Amino acid sequence: MEEGKDQNATVVVRPNQSRCSPHKLTHLLILFLVLCFSISLFIIYAVRKTGVTTAIAPPVSIPQPCVEEQPKTDLDHWIKSPSTLLHTMSDEQLFWRASFMPQLKSYPFTRVPKIAFMFLTKGPLPLAPLWERFFKGHQGLYSIYVHTLPAYEAKFPRTSVFHGRQIPSQIAEWGRMSMCDAERRLLANALLDISNEYFVLVSESCIPLYNFTLTYNYITNSNYSFIGAFDDPGPVGRGRYNYKMLSEVNISQWRKGSQWFEVNRKLATIIVSDVTYYPKFKEFCRPACYVDEHYFPTMLTILAPDLIANRSLTWVDWSRGGPHPATFGKFDITEDFMKKLHDIHNCDYNRKPASVCYLFARKFSPGTLQPLFLLAPKYLGY
Ligand SMILES: *[C@@H]1O[C@H](CO)[C@@H](O)[C@H](O)[C@H]1NC(C)=O
Ligand SMILES: *[C@@H]1O[C@H](CO)[C@@H](O)[C@H](O)[C@H]1NC(C)=O
Ligand SMILES: *[C@@H]1O[C@H](CO)[C@@H](O)[C@H](O)[C@H]1NC(C)=O
Ligand SMILES: *[C@@H]1O[C@H](CO)[C@@H](O)[C@H](O)[C@H]1NC(C)=O
Repeated sequence: MEEGKDQNATVVVRPNQSRCSPHKLTHLLILFLVLCFSISLFIIYAVRKTGVTTAIAPPVSIPQPCVEEQPKTDLDHWIKSPSTLLHTMSDEQLFWRASFMPQLKSYPFTRVPKIAFMFLTKGPLPLAPLWERFFKGHQGLYSIYVHTLPAYEAKFPRTSVFHGRQIPSQIAEWGRMSMCDAERRLLANALLDISNEYFVLVSESCIPLYNFTLTYNYITNSNYSFIGAFDDPGPVGRGRYNYKMLSEVNISQWRKGSQWFEVNRKLATIIVSDVTYYPKFKEFCRPACYVDEHYFPTMLTILAPDLIANRSLTWVDWSRGGPHPATFGKFDITEDFMKKLHDIHNCDYNRKPASVCYLFARKFSPGTLQPLFLLAPKYLGY
């Protein structure tokens, strides 16, 4: 009976036996030599016969069964953007990997700092066409990461900037630590690309308020990262502080802020590497505490107070009152409304009064896409 064939003619798979057995190799080598020899003979013959000296060797494809991948020894291996966002790392492994930080301040290669736009969404991105237009023509200055519910499969066409940008995700609930985990997961995935220097968290209901050029310059020229952090003496501020955290956080360090932040690489690394505050917030900031409004603002106020602007770049409308900010619908999007989006001032930029305070706004319902798409060129500049 022939090797590899039994009575049922099933294929025998032998994982431990190398496909490049010495036996096979010798065969191939002999075959190869015979082939080379014949070709040489043919060429010599042809040249003698025709006098053509510029004979081109015919493109013979030679089987190369045992070529090993070259070891990656050059710098490119370390600085190239990962070709895929898929990986099988656990959060623990991912955060460890993402916590690496170069100690030398100058890069020995040309590095154009990118802004990582991190979309935190349950699933679809209904305003994607608006963002597509915002990003258009600025390849190389941004990268995109999308965190959805784990079961959601995004179906963006190959031509979309969102294609293949979904990261391995887990369930995230508002007000819970799982929400901070999702934000840390986005940061960690984005940190794996060494060219990302700035990290913006946005949601599916966010829109950009200015063109990409202004947005990029605003973020990259700022001396501070933008994260809301204020001391609220009331019940939904200091009232949520738990004295069981006292050894790590005292009440005068307790901060509140919205979760929509922009941080630089240094702060992003601090956030994914934190093992001091994380367990305290997880244990002592229970549901009614809304940990996602306190953990990052408080931690960064303690660890990097001089690096944060204490305000967010994302505008929301609280003027309608109630526990949630206003959600804008199709009929809110008028020319007057669009004009007002650039009319929000009263802030500092690099410690000087600024005319632009917010680069993003929320919350916009899916129905706003059409009117926004129509009015954005005139009123938002993209
Ligand atoms: C971007 O917007 C700013 C301010 O609105 C404007 O001055 C600038 O010309 C725009 N840039 C581009 C490339 O459209
Ligand atoms: C809180 O901690 C900071 C830093 O350790 C300290 O300067 C401050 O006095 C403390 N405040 C209170 C109220 O304990
Ligand atoms: C932000 O707040 C911290 C104290 O919480 C302060 O030290 C820092 O200077 C503030 N940043 C700016 C830009 O004002
Ligand atoms: C930003 O920080 C740099 C370095 O610390 C400093 O030289 C520069 O003056 C600051 N810019 C502004 C506008 O404050």
